Amino acid sequence: MKNDKERVPKIGVMDSGMGGLSVLKELLDLPYPADFLYYGDLAHAPYGEKQTSEVLELTRNVCNIFLREEVDAILLACNTATSASASKLREELSVPVFGMEPAIKPALLAHPGKKIALLATSVTHREEKLQELKSELGASERVVHLNCDGLATLVDHGKWEEAKLLLKNILKIPQEQGIHALVLGCTHYVFLKNEIKDLYPEAILHDGNQGTVRHLVRSLHLDERQGHPNYTLFFSSNSNRDETEGLASRLLQKGSGSHPHNR
Ligand code: DGL
Repeated sequence: MKNDKERVPKIGVMDSGMGGLSVLKELLDLPYPADFLYYGDLAHAPYGEKQTSEVLELTRNVCNIFLREEVDAILLACNTATSASASKLREELSVPVFGMEPAIKPALLAHPGKKIALLATSVTHREEKLQELKSELGASERVVHLNCDGLATLVDHGKWEEAKLLLKNILKIPQEQGIHALVLGCTHYVFLKNEIKDLYPEAILHDGNQGTVRHLVRSLHLDERQGHPNYTLFFSSNSNRDETEGLASRLLQKGSGSHPHNR
């Protein structure tokens, strides 16, 4: 039996589907040993258009799967799941639970006195967590909410052209109002950076992935050892399993946060 120092930490990473892969990808780029178990709950996606209680229940179910796999920590790589469940699950579960936070603070700091636009799901926009963050930052007046329901599903199915069409509509508001700072408040949207830049070249994009990764690495002391991370992917839907796995591995390919164009 390996002692604690030798043991490679096992970390459950969850999302409603493909979005959390944008966070996993950053974790896999780091030279630290860890076993990541990724769970994409495609059978119940999208989370962002559901009742908060339902998202809590679904997220709790995934966390229970992770606990049966004896993970050392859980990362909710999903802003929606974090908004609906992180505080409750932190009280309930025996392992540390990490979550996402929309990068509103860095965006406000980088654009002093200006408005910023937050792209997120219905759940993230309406939940208390975001209202608290905005009032903590004294920024309620400066955040313009852009509801992006529908967008995550298009990413889950690799429908990049359709996603671009929907984005074109969503981006009209910041374009008309001259808002350049866009916060990607959903891990799925990180894969749409190229499409957003094509449609709105002046946009400056902010996402919470790196902040979350830094926080997780520090809190779990992952950087105290050198080595290679490993990962295993699970998806709760078996329809089109080959397509799902193919898309997931393309999304995990090296490069920027955008999806690979040579698909
Ligand atoms: N990836 C999720 C997030 O970060 C949302 C996708 C969904 O609606 O399921 O908010």
